Amino acid sequence: MIPETLPVPSAAQRVATPRRYLMCPPDHFAVTYTINPWMDPETPVDASLAARQWEALRDAYLDLGHQVDAIKPVEGLPDMVFAANGATVVAGKVLAASFRNQERQPEGPAYREWFRRNGFSEIHDPAFVNEGEGDFLFAGRWVLAGHGFRSDPHAHLEAQEFFGLPVIGLRLVDPRYYHLDTAMAVLDETTVAYFPEAFSPGSQDVLRRLYPDAIIATAEDAAVFGLNAVSDGLNVLLPREATGLIAQLAERGFQPIGMDLSELLKAGGSVKCCTLELRD
Ligand code: ARG
Repeated sequence: MIPETLPVPSAAQRVATPRRYLMCPPDHFAVTYTINPWMDPETPVDASLAARQWEALRDAYLDLGHQVDAIKPVEGLPDMVFAANGATVVAGKVLAASFRNQERQPEGPAYREWFRRNGFSEIHDPAFVNEGEGDFLFAGRWVLAGHGFRSDPHAHLEAQEFFGLPVIGLRLVDPRYYHLDTAMAVLDETTVAYFPEAFSPGSQDVLRRLYPDAIIATAEDAAVFGLNAVSDGLNVLLPREATGLIAQLAERGFQPIGMDLSELLKAGGSVKCCTLELRD
């Protein structure tokens, strides 16, 4: 007999897939210069707390069954802990990074060298400034790409040619959200979360058109870097202070995991910034 009403699933069936991440231990992490509004060299950073917070993030990935590779940190490069900026990797192809600010420029070759030594043969040396996954978010069917503060829009075309994927340019307008991954998170191939006010009006229209069912983050959740999140399709690691976003994610059938990265936030980074996904 067919029941009149089928049971409504409590949440969509989400599936985690195993991931491989590259991270850089915060051995030389500090705030010694200012290249975004979060960075104040006068505010003390607790280096040992930063190390423990970073280790807790790495251990959370390992506990979820993900692989974590580590790159050796370079002295004198305090922002190198933000591995997301080191490259963009899709289908084993590596688009190396080229940094806007002189303070971070040596990180580009340092990350590039790690890829060369670790069996990645297809590496593209960038002609234009791009800060890796800080501004390029792989979203399954296409790549979402930020510009306005760091990456050059010409780098979007460069990425499109190199990966053979449509690259959708989005204009960032709020200096607090200077990288795309501070204003938007890709949760799976069809789901994103973002903070609309970080984008130009035209880019907000693009996002509404592409993602009519997106999770819309509040100003409060954006301000604690809630969108600087990493998803494996089910588990979403994000700053624990983003309580509104944590509730929205749970409602949509994700499993939010709140992390404390208070020390890294002093440099304008959090979960996603510390994590570069290596996609094969
Ligand atoms: N202090 C670094 C900068 O301003 C933080 C980078 C954060 N990384 C990111 N993927 N958003 O460049």
